[in-house]
Amino acid sequence: MRTTTARVPAKINLALGVGPRRDDGYHPLATVYQAVDLCDEVRATEVDDDAVTVRVQFGGDGWREQAPVPTDANNLAVKAALALRDAFEVKAGAALSIRKVIPVMGGMAGGSADAAASLVACDALWGTGATRTQLEEIAAGLGSDVPFLLHGGTALGGGRGEEVSPVLARGRFHWVFAIADHGLSTAEVYAGYDLLHSDVPPPVPEVPAALLTALACGDAYGVGAALSNDLQAVALDLRPELRHIFTVGERGAALGTLVSGSGPTVMLLAEDADHSAQLAQMLLSEGVCADAVQASGPEPGAHLV
Ligand code: C5P
Repeated sequence: MRTTTARVPAKINLALGVGPRRDDGYHPLATVYQAVDLCDEVRATEVDDDAVTVRVQFGGDGWREQAPVPTDANNLAVKAALALRDAFEVKAGAALSIRKVIPVMGGMAGGSADAAASLVACDALWGTGATRTQLEEIAAGLGSDVPFLLHGGTALGGGRGEEVSPVLARGRFHWVFAIADHGLSTAEVYAGYDLLHSDVPPPVPEVPAALLTALACGDAYGVGAALSNDLQAVALDLRPELRHIFTVGERGAALGTLVSGSGPTVMLLAEDADHSAQLAQMLLSEGVCADAVQASGPEPGAHLV
């Protein structure tokens, strides 16, 4: 049986500016994405029939409590395979197998990552020969973060997040992710944001110039100082205990501490790999999160391995 495997990074938002809710329910974003080397893998195996199935295996340390990932047609990797098959009139099926390391419902786009990896793995398995632009179009239909997870690196995100363009970023950034036991629903956090702004709508979002300058110079201190997330206040309201992580970040001299995307994962920027190991150790010994994971970025987007 032929098999193809794609690896895909997690995403973080170094800045996440969120505008007023659009008529279609989405919010206009001005975001700076970075892909980090906390990676899921999606393997696609040839099958005899036209069924697209999925099974999920949890990698990483394995002991962390994980929200259930759907193993039916609601799984985003299955949706991605079916969308690719429709677009290219493929008749074959595929057995997908996901090795999950990216936290589930953690604000790091784990489901979107699996969709991007599924597109790349199934494109290779079925020999559809989709162009980058065709894959990006299908990706945008699957979720706001999926195009960036094909792209990888460090990039600007506009529209509802699906309009991706590269930004100049030098150097490598060392992160620690404080991971919670229970995830947050992205839709719920956005609904909380609407409620917070029910009287005065938020302004049209912009990417902070100081962040772009710091990225272009490879200045980790500047990046740390310019981190921002409009969804952070809502995530902290829903999970007040996350504030303890910020206290540890301050004590451990993290260059910056920020809720990742819609949370509840909190990311701490370190000076280097040693500093990130120290921060991870502090987070674990203080018991302020279920797990602390080191990762660095930028990483390439979904690619065959
Ligand atoms: O695009 P995706 O399906 O990943 O988004 C999940 C949910 O997050 C959406 O249903 C919507 O509630 C919210 N969302 C939003 N504005 C965005 C992106 C996501 O309101 N720009």
